[in-house]
Amino acid sequence: MSYKIGELIASGKTKLVYSLDNPSLVLLKFKDDVTALDGKKRDVIVGKGVLNAGISAKLFQLLKESNIDNHYVEMYDPTSLVVEKLEMIPVEVVCRNIATGSIVKRLPISEGTVFDPPIVEFFLKDDARGDPMITESHMTALKLASKSEVEKIVEMALKANEVLKSFLASKGLTLIDFKLEFGRRNGRIIIGDELDPDCMRIRDTSTGRILDKDLYRKGATLEEVKRAYEEVYRRIVEA
Ligand SMILES: Nc1ncnc2c1ncn2[C@@H]1O[C@H](COP(=O)(O)OP(=O)(O)O)[C@@H](O)[C@H]1O
Ligand SMILES: [Mg+2]
Repeated sequence: MSYKIGELIASGKTKLVYSLDNPSLVLLKFKDDVTALDGKKRDVIVGKGVLNAGISAKLFQLLKESNIDNHYVEMYDPTSLVVEKLEMIPVEVVCRNIATGSIVKRLPISEGTVFDPPIVEFFLKDDARGDPMITESHMTALKLASKSEVEKIVEMALKANEVLKSFLASKGLTLIDFKLEFGRRNGRIIIGDELDPDCMRIRDTSTGRILDKDLYRKGATLEEVKRAYEEVYRRIVEA
């Protein structure tokens, strides 16, 4: 399909959203920017946009094949995806299989604890407030989503986790945790945004090597971060 790119609708920390001549679709362009600490730390890794767009496209397709509704339509060019335009819910939905990161600082849980069943958490997207954790009651009280929508979100996050976890395992990768963003289209809850090493913690199963944005958070060089993303791309997109 060919599309005519229109105006810039939104510009976030790592992606740009453009209108398309089909009003039910938008173009999601992945930038080379990398950010952490709610945007306070930021750099550019040339080529990261291509890697994340390709990885996201592959993983969204995988979820589609398992009938998990998401916004992916097709790849437009190496850094951009055509996606369904969603009314985004400003909440980060985190699914955790193994404890690391903020949860081991917040709660008396030691690093590496396995969660079975996995944990689902919600964080309000509000950089000024440091993205506070919220509960299902806050989701409804703040009118972010209805009770049945929250139930649907949890169900979809857990289903996506199972599909992603087993796919990544088949590539020798361990899915520690990941973040999803959801939106609505015609009253339906749909997964939007991205699915790549910026929002997933992935380790090499045999060596434990970190292959995601944790490297950047921990102060690795930009070259090391890029090499890790390239490794994920090689294993899941090119394989
Ligand atoms: N399918 C979609 N339709 C409309 N907006 C979307 C869609 N998928 C993602 N977005 C939005 O694109 C914007 C840019 O993404 P990003 O750079 O990651 O922003 P942020 O800085 O908020 O993390 C975000 O506001 C995100 O919610
Ligand atoms: Mg984002």
